[in-house]
Amino acid sequence: MTASIRIDAFLSGADLDAALRADVARGLTSVPKELPPKWFYDERGSQLFDEITRLDEYYPTRREKEILVAHASDVAATGADTLVELGSGTSEKTRLLLSAMSSAGHLRGFIPFDVDEVTLRGAAEAIAKEYPDIHVHGIAGDFEHHLGRIPVEGRRVIAFLGGTIGNLPPASRAAFLSQIADGMRRGDAFLLGTDLVKDIDRLEAAYDDSVGVTAEFNRNVLRVVNRRLGADFDPERFTHVARFDKDNEWIEMLLRSEVDQTVHVPALELTVEFAQGEEMRTEISAKFRRSRVESELADAGLRLVQWWTDTHEDFALSLSVRADRD
Ligand code: SAH
Ligand code: AVI
Repeated sequence: MTASIRIDAFLSGADLDAALRADVARGLTSVPKELPPKWFYDERGSQLFDEITRLDEYYPTRREKEILVAHASDVAATGADTLVELGSGTSEKTRLLLSAMSSAGHLRGFIPFDVDEVTLRGAAEAIAKEYPDIHVHGIAGDFEHHLGRIPVEGRRVIAFLGGTIGNLPPASRAAFLSQIADGMRRGDAFLLGTDLVKDIDRLEAAYDDSVGVTAEFNRNVLRVVNRRLGADFDPERFTHVARFDKDNEWIEMLLRSEVDQTVHVPALELTVEFAQGEEMRTEISAKFRRSRVESELADAGLRLVQWWTDTHEDFALSLSVRADRD
């Protein structure tokens, strides 16, 4: 027996192309140049991220899993019957939450939400087979634009795992958290994974692994722009750079042009010059302290009710509720 599945796609290929065109036009003409990280995640980008999660240097996934092993039953104790997961990817760690909710006797529905429809469908189908009694309702969309499309049904835990919140710049993060809070009802809870500030060497190694998988993940954004917009980036002429910005407490990933070069983006009738050594930022990954998580949640109208870390205090999961509705 397999659970019932429904997938709603709010991003057609044409929508994705239009959004990518706007981001590339803005990003490649700004100084310094920049591309947003959501464009890493086509099917290959999602596979590369999955490989990253198994690298020795990349601790966040293992640490967050450790916290989920210890505390999934506490999350289930909220009494939630529906798990919403934003930026769900392969939903691997999510099984720990689904199983705990199922053991608590409440689980009715799972709503994975991701911009990469291929990976979303694969995960939704796999979970529907593993949890045959529930309804799986996948949403292919952009969590910066389509949070309003999440069905308001049941008592929900909205999970945003992996530290993906750190990939949003501060202003977008504040807007995102406010939208989450606005969509929550009495009894709903928000489960947020945040990577914590730590030793710089470990942080930089996590984003510059010795095998070069993260470098390939970083260059994948160029392949996506080539494929979708007909651009002629030569990914091999860009070097992967990862460094910790102490003032902002975030990792920056950049692509450094190895040579003076010209790139054409026919879909935008755009020609862009890169100077040798010029760096283009492709991602930030903010690292948090408890005080910042708590105050950013509070600014959005959320009250932190639980704070769990792994035994090394590398990563944290927080559970929060609407400050005015509990
Ligand atoms: N939650 C998983 C995957 C994290 S990778 C984990 O913890 O391991 C980040 C995920 O967020 C990817 O699956 C990517 O496709 C998705 N994502 C990135 N930007 C997004 C956006 N703007 N809207 C929806 N999903 C997004
Ligand atoms: C998805 N996100 C939380 C990852 C991170 O750690 O910021 C993306 C990533 N970038 C490089 N490695 C992993």
